[in-house]
Amino acid sequence: MTRRVLVTGGAGYVGSLLVPRLLARGHAVTVLDRLWYGAGALDPVRAEPGLRLLAADIRDRDAVRAALSGADAVVHLACISNDPSFELDPSLGRAINLDAFQPLVEESLRAGVSRFIYASSSSVYGVSDRAQVDEDHPLCPLTDYSRFKAECESILLQERRGGFCPIVVRPATLCGVAPRQRLDLTVNILTHHAFERGRITVFGGSQKRPNLHIEDMVEVYERLLAEPSERVRGRVYNVGYENHSVAELAQIVREVVTAQRPEPAVDVETTDSADLRSYHISSRRIRAELGFLPRRTIADAVRDLYAAFAEGRLRGAAEDARYFNVRRMQELIRAGEAA
Ligand SMILES: NC(=O)c1ccc[n+]([C@@H]2O[C@H](COP(=O)([O-])OP(=O)(O)OC[C@H]3O[C@@H](n4cnc5c(N)ncnc54)[C@H](O)[C@@H]3O)[C@@H](O)[C@H]2O)c1
Repeated sequence: MTRRVLVTGGAGYVGSLLVPRLLARGHAVTVLDRLWYGAGALDPVRAEPGLRLLAADIRDRDAVRAALSGADAVVHLACISNDPSFELDPSLGRAINLDAFQPLVEESLRAGVSRFIYASSSSVYGVSDRAQVDEDHPLCPLTDYSRFKAECESILLQERRGGFCPIVVRPATLCGVAPRQRLDLTVNILTHHAFERGRITVFGGSQKRPNLHIEDMVEVYERLLAEPSERVRGRVYNVGYENHSVAELAQIVREVVTAQRPEPAVDVETTDSADLRSYHISSRRIRAELGFLPRRTIADAVRDLYAAFAEGRLRGAAEDARYFNVRRMQELIRAGEAA
C-alpha cells in the first residue's frame, strides 16, 4: 500500500533518512520544514517526482493546510528536539512543541488524514527504579520538553475514533549516521570524541541510557505506516534496544574504534557527576504486538560513524553549529531567525 505522507521536520536527523526510504517504497512525500539545519541532506532525492519540499513553519496554519493537501498520513517529527535547545527560549519551544500541535491535528482531520504518527520521547517517564518501564508506567516528565511531549500525546489520543488512527512512538536516544547528522546525542558524541581526540570523558558512568540505531527507528515509522489500522489505532510504543550504562557505551565505542584504528589508543576518563539519573525502557510491546525487533546494535552505529569520520564525510563538523542543535539554535535565536 502506498501513501501520501506529510513528514514535518523531514529535513532533520530522522527525517533525512526516513524521507528517501519512503520515496524508494513508492510513497509520495511532502516535507514541511524550516530547514534550520539546511536542506542539503535531501539533495539526493530533490528531483524525485514523489517529493514536495515546503520550507515553512508548522506554526503557520496556512502552510500546514497547504502541506496537508492530498495527504492521507502524517509523521510528525518537527520540534525543538532536545532540552538544552528548548531552554534557550522556552516560549519559542512551547509555541513549536505544544501550541502548534492541536492546530496540526485539527488540520489533519480536516484534510482527511487517516493515520497520524507522533514522535514523542521515552523521556516522558522521567527517572524510574522499576525493572520494566513499559508504556503503562506513569508519566513523570522532568523538563518542559518532555512535559509537552506528554501533553501532545494526550491531545492526539483523544482523537482515537472513526477512521482516524493516531499512534504514539516513544523512542530511546538515537545513534548512527544519517544524511543530516547530529553529533549531540550520547553515542554519536562519544564516537566523535574518540575519533577526534582519542579520548572519551565519562561523567559518572553508572547511569543507564537506552539507545536505538537510527535505521531501526526509520524501519519502525515505515512499519507503522503499513500496519492495519485495527492493530495500531491509539497504541503507544516504546522503541529502544539496548539499555546500557554510559560506562558500557564508552567501552563499546572504545572497542569499535580501537578495532578500526589501534593507534593512538582511546583513553576513557571517568569523572564524578552529580547527575546520576538513570533511564531504561522496555520495548516488549512493539515486539509482542508487531513482531518488531531492532536489527542493528550500538556497535553497528559506532562502526558507521567511524567510517563517516575516517572517510572525511564529516570533515569540519566540530566547528559547524549545524551538527549540534543547541549551538545552531543559539545562532538562529541571536539572529532573530527562529521567530
Ligand atoms: N534524535 C533522537 O535521539 C530522538 C529521540 C527521541 C525522540 N526524538 C524525536 O524525534 C523527532 C525528530 O528528531 P530529530 O533528531 O530528527 O530532530 P532534528 O532536530 O534533527 O530535526 C527536527 C527538524 O524539525 C525542523 N523544525 C523545527 N521546528 C520547526 C518548525 N517550527 N517548523 C518547521 N520545521 C521545524 C528543523 O528544521 C529540523 O529539520 C523529534 O520530534 C524528536 O523529539 C528524537
